[in-house]
Amino acid sequence: MDTEQGLEGGAPHKMTMHPSMLKVIEQKKRIREKLARIKNKIGIYSAKGGVGKTTTAVNIAYTLKGMGYKVGLLDADIDCPNISMFLGINAAAPDGYPIMPIEKDGVKVLSTSMFVDDSKKPIIWRGPMVGKMISEFLENAEWGELDYLIIDMPPGTSDSPLSIIQLLDLKGFVIVTTPQHIPAINAIRSGMMAKRLGVAILGVVENMSDGNIKGGREVAEALGCDVLGFIKLDPSLSGFSDLGRIAVLEDEKIKKEYINIVDRIVGD
Ligand SMILES: Nc1ncnc2c1ncn2[C@@H]1O[C@H](COP(=O)(O)OP(=O)(O)OP(=O)(O)O)[C@@H](O)[C@H]1O
Ligand SMILES: [Mg+2]
Repeated sequence: MDTEQGLEGGAPHKMTMHPSMLKVIEQKKRIREKLARIKNKIGIYSAKGGVGKTTTAVNIAYTLKGMGYKVGLLDADIDCPNISMFLGINAAAPDGYPIMPIEKDGVKVLSTSMFVDDSKKPIIWRGPMVGKMISEFLENAEWGELDYLIIDMPPGTSDSPLSIIQLLDLKGFVIVTTPQHIPAINAIRSGMMAKRLGVAILGVVENMSDGNIKGGREVAEALGCDVLGFIKLDPSLSGFSDLGRIAVLEDEKIKKEYINIVDRIVGD
């Protein structure tokens, strides 16, 4: 693609766009068209591993579903996809194109784990392959009409989150932290990166809250957003996940905690 750019006081200057840049722009256009019937795409994110991103993504998705919304859940953790285990999904996704998400209790779910035959086998891919898998999902999955697509983000601030940010028009990120200072610093890092790339921060969830209520406030203050809510450290929550059961569908107390958070996301 050639563009004419006038230089001050001089002749028009011819600029050529690099082919790889052109490819990304065209791919983004295709993905935008493909996902046009999804009203809100929200990433659940923190650079820190193990803080409860997947737990938060699953329970936010099913809380939204419980409120009557049409919901999809995309596992963007390509290396360590956990969503299927959290939901007790053992089925493989049907072969062929378009890629059809698997429906579980009324939520459409898609994960790399649905395409590998052994859930314990490591998925060892270099960055470009990870990005390719994400764009494959985004370009070829048939989600239909959705009110919300919840994206369970991988940890880190490199390839996978960058691909998601680059390829999707996100409504924003929900940043997850635990109450401690170090996870909070890493959560701030993720939020700063998102903001620098023009993605809104919808708010912070402090997960595994122990009553001290530190980490969530620290992150929210640094990012200039609100704490959406606190999810208590609760062995029954991990117990449900380990059994492939969805906490908000089983436990009224946990459900209330997530409704408070989701009310604020929806009201945004
Ligand atoms: N509020 C909570 N109380 C008790 N256990 C929890 C809570 N939240 C999450 N867990 C447990 O902590 C572990 C890590 O949670 P989860 O997998 O959701 O984190 P993650 O941020 O997605 O991790 P990763 O970075 O590996 O993707 C899981 O075993 C989960 O069941
Ligand atoms: Mg996870």
